[in-house]
Amino acid sequence: MANARILVVYYSRTGTTRKVAQSLSAALSCDSEEIAEAGSREGIFGYLRSAMEARRQIPSRIAATVRDPSLYDLVVIGTPVWAWSLSSPVRAYLLANSSKLPAVAFFCTLGGAGSDQVFGQMRELVGKQPLDCLSLTARDVASANHAPRLATFVEAIQRAIGNGRSSAATNAA
Ligand SMILES: Cc1cc2nc3c(=O)[nH]c(=O)nc-3n(C[C@H](O)[C@H](O)[C@H](O)COP(=O)(O)O)c2cc1C
Repeated sequence: MANARILVVYYSRTGTTRKVAQSLSAALSCDSEEIAEAGSREGIFGYLRSAMEARRQIPSRIAATVRDPSLYDLVVIGTPVWAWSLSSPVRAYLLANSSKLPAVAFFCTLGGAGSDQVFGQMRELVGKQPLDCLSLTARDVASANHAPRLATFVEAIQRAIGNGRSSAATNAA
């Protein structure tokens, strides 16, 4: 698919998933959008609320997003793992947008466990199989040891969309 349009959508509480998303959108030369919330998740109460929402599969209240996913050929969705579950802001995004999503790929960042559960929850919410999935530990992202696996993920995406170079969907905003 020549000139395939790709969007990277993600939520990040402490910056790890954001760092991966920024590397991905740079490598794919594509648009990106960070899911935002009005409230804060800082501190121990923010941590506990995040874990509770994720565990109970409660979507959070997210700000309206700018990019329309239906204008893209592929949407790459990224989330941190919270309590072996999908983060509540990404859950909210998928619930609001599942009918508009084209082909998808998933990535998550985590301390060490729960990626299979998260990808399973994302598959269920989206209702289709992802082209590829990537999980990276926060430790590997911090030390840049994640670079080879990230490159493999980018190659898999480019192969799946026919090596088309992505470009911004100019009328997406
Ligand atoms: C509420 C909460 C629950 C978490 N639960 C898990 C978990 O079940 N398994 C895991 O490997 N990491 C867990 N983590 C660690 C995060 O997934 C990891 O630090 C991630 O890279 C954070 O991404 P971010 O900086 O983009 O927010 C948890 C973090 C938070 C805040």
